[in-house]
Amino acid sequence: MNAELEGQVAIVTGGASGIGAATVALLAEAGARVVAADLQEARGGPGRFVPHDVTDEAAWRRLLDDVLDREGRLDILVNNAGISGRMGSIESTDVALWQKVQAVNSEGVFLGCQTAIEGMKKTGPGKPAAGGSIVNVSSIAGLQAGNGAIAYSASKGAVRLLTKSVALYCAEKKYAIRCNSVHPGGVDTPIFDNLWQMVGREPGKAFLDARHPIGHMAEPRELAEVILFLASGRSSFVTGAEFVADGGMTTGLMRRPPLGAS
Ligand SMILES: NC(=O)c1ccc[n+]([C@@H]2O[C@H](COP(=O)([O-])OP(=O)(O)OC[C@H]3O[C@@H](n4cnc5c(N)ncnc54)[C@H](O)[C@@H]3O)[C@@H](O)[C@H]2O)c1
Repeated sequence: MNAELEGQVAIVTGGASGIGAATVALLAEAGARVVAADLQEARGGPGRFVPHDVTDEAAWRRLLDDVLDREGRLDILVNNAGISGRMGSIESTDVALWQKVQAVNSEGVFLGCQTAIEGMKKTGPGKPAAGGSIVNVSSIAGLQAGNGAIAYSASKGAVRLLTKSVALYCAEKKYAIRCNSVHPGGVDTPIFDNLWQMVGREPGKAFLDARHPIGHMAEPRELAEVILFLASGRSSFVTGAEFVADGGMTTGLMRRPPLGAS
């Protein structure tokens, strides 16, 4: 076993499914004790499941108390829980949908960062010079606007700048807590279940695969690898950064086949 994170304690929100479940598995493989905090039960993985709603401030307090009581420290928080919400434009999105998506995707990350800083200040690696790493899962939708999912895009854009603000604040305070965001392109997870039900998994996935210059959507483990890098000391000089893992999707226009190519 690779023991890079031996002795460290991590919380992964949304750890029961998709990118979160793959991250729980990879951080555990790297030697961390991992708490999978999710609304739905995490079954069968290596993490310890704790029921959690990221939108509930009191639940964050209970989660931190639980982790500090049982594990004695907090080194890594991956703010991964998220919902896609329904597609909707500025004209078709009602305020209830807007608020729900902001509550989970944006406010949940804000509460997570507040909670993690409190825990890491007391207990993180290098104690007494405590510290840690916060990884916020945004999206390429937080880098480039879309006209069809305004609530989601706005929530993920908020995560991008919230991350940078937290990074600067922690640096200023000399907390040794780093904070970075990850911006995935399409990742094959249950977040697409509703879409697959509407258009069929095969044609839907083929459509999304083709939109990535690399030729396919990602597997959750490919994002977990990026999150592990940002969570671990390997990225010790990286804070306030946005890490794009999108198979080239936001790189620029790609002509297929390239004009003039042999
Ligand atoms: N899959 C993609 O293509 C993709 C692309 C870009 C960004 N993302 C982001 O990655 C993150 C993980 O997405 P995924 O694709 O693995 O989705 P997923 O649906 O497989 O997993 C999301 C998990 O979050 C949990 N969750 C939802 N609301 C919660 C809440 N209020 N409190 C606690 N847990 C909650 C769900 O129960 C679920 O287990 C999300 O933030 C998503 O926006 C995904």
